[in-house]
Amino acid sequence: MTRQLHLNLFMHTRGHHEAAWRHPLASPLGLTDIRHYQDVAARAEAALFDSIFFADQLALAEDVAQAPRAWLEPVTVLAALATSTSRIGLIATASTTYTEPFNLARQFASIDHISNGRAAWNIVTSWLATAARNYGGTEQVSHADRYARGEEFMAVVKGLWDSWAEDAVVDDRLEGVYARADRIRPVNHRGDFYRVAGPLNLPRCPQGRPVLVQAGSSDTGRRFAARHAEAVFTAHMAKETAQAFYADLKRSAAAEGRRPEHVLILPGLSPTIGSTEAEARRLARETNDLTDPEVGRKRLSNRFGGYDFRDLPLDRPLVPEDFPNPDTVQAARSRTEVILNVVRRDKPTLRQLLGYLAGARGHYVMAGTAEQVADLIEDWFRGGAADGFNIMPPILPAQLDAFAAGVVPILQRRGLFRTEYTGATLREHYGLPRPSSRFDARSRAREAQLSTT
Ligand SMILES: Cc1cc2nc3c(=O)[nH]c(=O)nc-3n(C[C@H](O)[C@H](O)[C@H](O)COP(=O)(O)O)c2cc1C
Repeated sequence: MTRQLHLNLFMHTRGHHEAAWRHPLASPLGLTDIRHYQDVAARAEAALFDSIFFADQLALAEDVAQAPRAWLEPVTVLAALATSTSRIGLIATASTTYTEPFNLARQFASIDHISNGRAAWNIVTSWLATAARNYGGTEQVSHADRYARGEEFMAVVKGLWDSWAEDAVVDDRLEGVYARADRIRPVNHRGDFYRVAGPLNLPRCPQGRPVLVQAGSSDTGRRFAARHAEAVFTAHMAKETAQAFYADLKRSAAAEGRRPEHVLILPGLSPTIGSTEAEARRLARETNDLTDPEVGRKRLSNRFGGYDFRDLPLDRPLVPEDFPNPDTVQAARSRTEVILNVVRRDKPTLRQLLGYLAGARGHYVMAGTAEQVADLIEDWFRGGAADGFNIMPPILPAQLDAFAAGVVPILQRRGLFRTEYTGATLREHYGLPRPSSRFDARSRAREAQLSTT
């Protein structure tokens, strides 16, 4: 069979475009109405998407008066979707900086049980400066410290997920044996940031471990992804940078002793689709006209760790000196690089840059026919830039429907995308191996040794 691509739906409020929430084609449902999430997930599942993803931030954005910056907590949403859907994978963001490994391991293991093996965790270290103030601190934890803590966090959660052997639960009511105590072991972790005894108070989950997703693209972020991630979200405004990222991450994964095909790379793509290119462009323009440049200016400031862009005129071409040095930015370093590359390459005015970022915050944006979108997907997929895409419809659910009705059948005709779900778990959709339990391997080796002595 030819290699097939993977599609994740990135669900974001009423669509990824900054002004989507006001657009007449957007969902009429409220952003705290679970039916909105369930409706979008059902449409993505009907279109055979591999997975649906919910991002998260741990502080309210300052521009909530002019933009919808509120949504339901994502792990809670996954629990609701686990029962309203049956096949699609379920991915939520959770932070290694502002949660305890024991809590997180339990939550995602529970989602994996509830969904029968469809859970995934998008590992973030939380770049938003204001989040620190909601967790007992005033200062943002530095980029380097966040990743150091994240590394130790991973060792602990993996240990917790592996603390029960597959066959630990007996549930023998007649004999009165619920579990084999010798098949459950503590973690006894004592590190720089965490002390966790374990074991987890929940049996091993259906996928062994939830699927691990990551989206940091800085050098440290990439090394982290190469070690831990099984799927990687990434933002690119050009195919060339996506190809370079793809080659680099696959190489790094191999250097970590992993098989490169077990690290799926999914760049973001936000397509506005029309029956003609002119219609798609008209719809994109109409959505752009609803944006407020001052909302974009505040958002840009957040991206650069609170840097003050208030005096920057809207209509003169930008130069890199208008921005702080990305090496000094403690927020999302990779996205600041993406933005600076556009400034160097296209010399946009601030108004033009904000217009571009309004589409999908630095991910690839295009307006065209379903055929043109499918062509781009195939070109990146065959051209070593992607294993699939993180689809970010500008308006939900209208542009998800346009993608499902227009692009998906073309990809299927070209043999690039499934025509039915063949697997039950997210690992099966993504073609990922089930992690072997270190517990079992070690104990089998020990038992073998005992039997020969
Ligand atoms: C598609 C995508 C989704 C992301 N979702 C989140 C998120 O939900 N919460 C968050 O704090 N960061 C999110 N990020 C940011 C990254 O996880 C990462 O924290 C950020 O890029 C900073 O890390 P870096 O400096 O290594 O790039 C996302 C990035 C991408 C590309």
